[in-house]
Amino acid sequence: MVNHSRKRLVIGNWKMHGDTVFNSELLAGLRSGIADASNCDVAVCVPFPYLYQVRSLLEGSGVSWGAQDVSRHEKGAYTGEVSAGMLADFGCRWALVGHSERRSYHGESDQLVADKAAAALAAGITPVVCVGETLQEQEAGQTHAVIERQLAPVLALGADSLAKLVIAYEPVWAIGTGKTATPEQAQEVHAAIRRQLNAAGVGQVRVLYGGSVKASNAASLFTMPDIDGALVGGAALVASEFLSIAAAQASE
Ligand code: 13P
Repeated sequence: MVNHSRKRLVIGNWKMHGDTVFNSELLAGLRSGIADASNCDVAVCVPFPYLYQVRSLLEGSGVSWGAQDVSRHEKGAYTGEVSAGMLADFGCRWALVGHSERRSYHGESDQLVADKAAAALAAGITPVVCVGETLQEQEAGQTHAVIERQLAPVLALGADSLAKLVIAYEPVWAIGTGKTATPEQAQEVHAAIRRQLNAAGVGQVRVLYGGSVKASNAASLFTMPDIDGALVGGAALVASEFLSIAAAQASE
């Protein structure tokens, strides 16, 4: 049965895409079409230099916005890093942490990701903690073990913290490949994540799916009881496509 108690959340992860002209067209498109997605929280996570533009162009639109990373440190000599306090000062609502591209290209460990989530929470920003297995790990039957390992230091933050964050399951083999997990495959992992969260004493955490989500597959994913929304990459760069995902109705 579809669980309606958690409001759906659809977040666009622009990754390292955009420029001021492109962004203003995309944001205008989101503003004009967002009314159709009123039963869903909608957000975009953009490159740091464009937070200012996004803040001004989305003001009053109902679309919230955030960053794609955050430092584990509060302040200090950490050249190039951006603290959660700075993001909060600026009005930022969300921060992705532990995206697989950060884990694989920047060597981010499970503990570092949990520290970043804690730093975000301490500043009042909602971390979206990304987890997911590689193709090799999936083929070796290690999916559940990998997710458990990635989540362990996050669960150790405790129920009060967990209640305020969002988890995104993004199988690495489905990111940017056009190969989506089937709704059933994703649901199986989401249910396992939900069991871990329940065991840690939290029931209402939103667990998003990410990996080649498009307008054409969103509704079938949202039909699954433990899929509470989506973290969208490529399709978030096209306003109509992203809005269709946000407006997709779970078939019951
Ligand atoms: P795609 O939707 O382009 O597969 O990217 C998914 C993703 O990594 C979102 O964070």
